[in-house]
Amino acid sequence: DWTAASFVESTIADLKARLGNDKVVMALSGGVDSTVAASLVHHAIGKNLYCIFVDNGLLRKDEYESVLHSYLDMGLNIKGVDAKAHFYGVLAGLTDPEAKRKAIGKAFIDIFDQEAHLIEDVKWLGQGTIYPDVIESVSVKGPSATIKSHHNVGGLPDYMKLKIVEPLNTLFKDEVRAVGRTLELPEAILKRHPFPGPGLAIRILGDITAEKVAILQDVDAIFINGLKTRGLYDQVWQAGAMLLPIQSVGVMGDERTYERVVALRAVTSVDGMTADWAHLPYDFLADVSNEIINRVKGVNRVVYDISSKPPATIEWE
Ligand code: XMP
Repeated sequence: DWTAASFVESTIADLKARLGNDKVVMALSGGVDSTVAASLVHHAIGKNLYCIFVDNGLLRKDEYESVLHSYLDMGLNIKGVDAKAHFYGVLAGLTDPEAKRKAIGKAFIDIFDQEAHLIEDVKWLGQGTIYPDVIESVSVKGPSATIKSHHNVGGLPDYMKLKIVEPLNTLFKDEVRAVGRTLELPEAILKRHPFPGPGLAIRILGDITAEKVAILQDVDAIFINGLKTRGLYDQVWQAGAMLLPIQSVGVMGDERTYERVVALRAVTSVDGMTADWAHLPYDFLADVSNEIINRVKGVNRVVYDISSKPPATIEWE
């Protein structure tokens, strides 16, 4: 029978045997998967694991600083790379969801490749791929399926010639969390909701600008902090906000306003493959809506997404 403790023990032993004295480079995202994967590899080979954490300018508010801090606390050999300007540059003017994903995927590989080349004689690429990523990526390549492309699976350029190590590729999300708990990783990381690799770029419908990112970060922070304060965060599988490419009429005092609309999305799920919209309390939604409209300049309307997956996806792009 599968237990997290036996998985940890056998995986670390296996990694030690496979990796020996080789160096491994790994991109961390701040998410559960890459963090747990890195921790396993770190237990096996210590400082020979070189971690890279890229600020793509599409993360949640203050996430880059706080996550970097956690990684240092875990004792990881980690390098933070500020690539915000590069990402905003390649995204400028792009509106098609798949074009945005591809541009982000390519920008990420370019930055990562540049950083990996600074590490002498690195042999392996570590990845936090989990089982559902493997399944969804396979179906992307199928003849009829056009599920969204997951840029973080299989996107390695040939010329890097690195061997791939993916210690979590047989596990589901709840198993990954159990493994992380056995490794005594911080609860804040283990309980963190999944967050897509392309980040806020696929929650801003239409083109990406630094100004839109800042607005969405503020909206998202109010929603997520509200969920945490009310003890609802751990009851939903994932939550976030979408910035819509429309404006709506509102009224403030005697003034007519014509401002942005945001959609809040929260879902319950076991593995992200199917999901139901979270039946959050009305009074909570009312409070969050008021706070967003009062505090985030440029937003005058909040809507709540009541679609399940399928047929809707969790993200809007
Ligand atoms: P969808 O929107 O397909 O999302 O229902 C299912 C889960 O996958 C995440 N997601 C992504 N994760 N790169 C990622 O790393 C992506 O391009 C991507 N697209 C969606 C989404 O946040 C949800 O957890």
